[in-house]
Amino acid sequence: MEMKTSYQLDRERIPQHVAIVMDGNGRWAKLRGKPRLFGHNAGMEALKEIVKHSDVLGVKYLTVYAFSTENWKRPIEEVSGIFKLLIVYMERELEELHANNVKVNIFGDYSKLPKASIDALETALAKTKDNTGLTFNIALNYGGRDEIMRSVKKLAEAVAAGELKAEELTEKLAKTTAKRTRKKAAETEEGEAAEKPVKKTRKTAAKKAEETTEETAEKPVKKAARKTASKKET
Ligand code: FPP
Repeated sequence: MEMKTSYQLDRERIPQHVAIVMDGNGRWAKLRGKPRLFGHNAGMEALKEIVKHSDVLGVKYLTVYAFSTENWKRPIEEVSGIFKLLIVYMERELEELHANNVKVNIFGDYSKLPKASIDALETALAKTKDNTGLTFNIALNYGGRDEIMRSVKKLAEAVAAGELKAEELTEKLAKTTAKRTRKKAAETEEGEAAEKPVKKTRKTAAKKAEETTEETAEKPVKKAARKTASKKET
């Protein structure tokens, strides 16, 4: 893929793994007197460029934290709008991602998303599963509690296997394990977190989001003038 950049980069120092928490969309929109979804749309447009540039620059893994377990608490219109953006993104970008050998990977329990979003994500997973270029991880319905549980399990297994004594457990070791667990989930083929169950209380929000997404499926999300967005904000 050809891409012009207005800056010089030392190719030897490109990080293998770049992780981005998608944050600030709401504030960005508010500053412009626009609704939050306008900001999310701009965020998605900026993401398109980030994926393309990461690929061109030779980043091996790009992880974006797109929707946390906490985000279910947002107004239903916003939640369903975000899920719809996932579909829009895949519809517009999947062919190009595949042509560029990008492998899409999801972690987090995306099974609680509306069906149309799940279908779009699974189409992308299936289509790009054998690709060997940039691994594009999308974290959806992910949460800190899952990460803590996975780390605790790892440590418990190490103690059970006699590799570690309980009294040798330190905060530093717990932190390192959590960091490794997170990194491993982002770099493994399937992403371990995909099988994790989600609290029952969230089901209602998920169900509502599905209904709202279906209801609004025909209404296109207004396209933001985002090229300036990504430049000014990042
Ligand atoms: C955080 O901004 C952003 C989100 C909760 C959603 C981001 C997700 C998308 C834009 C869809 C992404 C599409 C793909 C393909 C991954 P915020 O609302 O917390 O902003 P604030 O901090 O200003 O309130």
